[in-house]
Amino acid sequence: MEKLAIHGGVPVRETPLTYGKQYIDEADIEAVANVLRSPLITSGPQIQILEENLCRITGAKYAVAVSNGTAALHVACLAAGIHEGDEVITTPMTFAASANCALYCGAKPVFADIDPETYNISPASIREHITENTKAIVAVDFTGQAVELDEIQQICKEYNLILIEDAAHSLGTTYNGCSVGSIADMTAFSFHPVKTVTGGEGGAVLTNNKELFNKLILFRSHAITRDASQMVHPTGEGWYYEQVDLGYNYRLTDFQAALLSSQLSKLEKFSLRRKEIVKMYDEGFSQIPEVTVQKEIAESDTTRHLYILRFNLNMLNASRREIFDALWAENIHCNVHYIPVYYHPYYQKLGYAKGLCPNAEKIYEEIITMPLYYSMTTKDVADVICAVKKVIFNVKME
Ligand SMILES: Cc1ncc(COP(=O)(O)O)c(C=O)c1O
Repeated sequence: MEKLAIHGGVPVRETPLTYGKQYIDEADIEAVANVLRSPLITSGPQIQILEENLCRITGAKYAVAVSNGTAALHVACLAAGIHEGDEVITTPMTFAASANCALYCGAKPVFADIDPETYNISPASIREHITENTKAIVAVDFTGQAVELDEIQQICKEYNLILIEDAAHSLGTTYNGCSVGSIADMTAFSFHPVKTVTGGEGGAVLTNNKELFNKLILFRSHAITRDASQMVHPTGEGWYYEQVDLGYNYRLTDFQAALLSSQLSKLEKFSLRRKEIVKMYDEGFSQIPEVTVQKEIAESDTTRHLYILRFNLNMLNASRREIFDALWAENIHCNVHYIPVYYHPYYQKLGYAKGLCPNAEKIYEEIITMPLYYSMTTKDVADVICAVKKVIFNVKME
């Protein structure tokens, strides 16, 4: 069949729109500069201030700032005591870090399928994958929408599992009125620049459990302690410290922490604007039968990190690849989230076969991520909707 020319001509926009980007103001720059002028640029006073801010915002009892979201997931797995022989259930519809954290500990990631409408991990599929070796669940709040926490917590209670919520996308989201960060055994955040707030890089683990908190603190910094109560052979000498386990250097710098605190002071307005954009998109796209938007659950008041559009390809005379390329030609620099984790060659080499999670695999073939970030103007949003309409008009089946 001859290919349709679905792009070309004058693009909807002259300047490209990326799918996500940070928003940095003068107050952020000043906050970083102030730390750079100070004597302590790593592990200084700003770390504690950031941790206090995260606790205040989410209602969690304890926060441990780390160098990135991947480190947050890794220290959470270490604190959970995950080791060789254990299985950790997670979703394939995520960034690889959500599963890699289990591999770092010598454990096996086990992929449960997703709900075909919310794209979050399905509690029913979690149940099907529990074995006597299951130790934890890494549940990802995909695009910012909270997973079905009530049901997943119930599963954890029944089978004595630890719940690690991968909230890399969901800072600012609440579930039944409680902030993400204050609910799971441990919640891992990422502060990468496309996320709602950024430190350049950065991450944090939040928990309400003192014992887990103490372990997180240790693993963040080589498992070295100066606290006599944690030592094997305390000597009382002022210079003395002990390494009591195998930890890492996952420390955040003080200037990143200062940037993050400054960014967090804008979380409410960031969150509101993201919600406004999502509303405009939902309204615009609801008029196009050839696309489906992500279903929202009533329990989650979502600060959306990604906006995913599913193309109903059986109504269209084009592949996802052609639609993607056509949107780029319109200067809409969309993206795709995510390639199922076990499609990656490394996971294939480990023996994960395609076909494990049919919902995730099917949905992956049909999704494209639209631009979504705080500083998008209403005109930018309208341009995206217009570009999608234009591309669809060109490839619609009559
Ligand atoms: C769902 C999810 N988990 C974990 C991470 C890892 O975070 P980081 O890039 O800060 O290491 C990401 C990063 O994009 C993510 O999207």
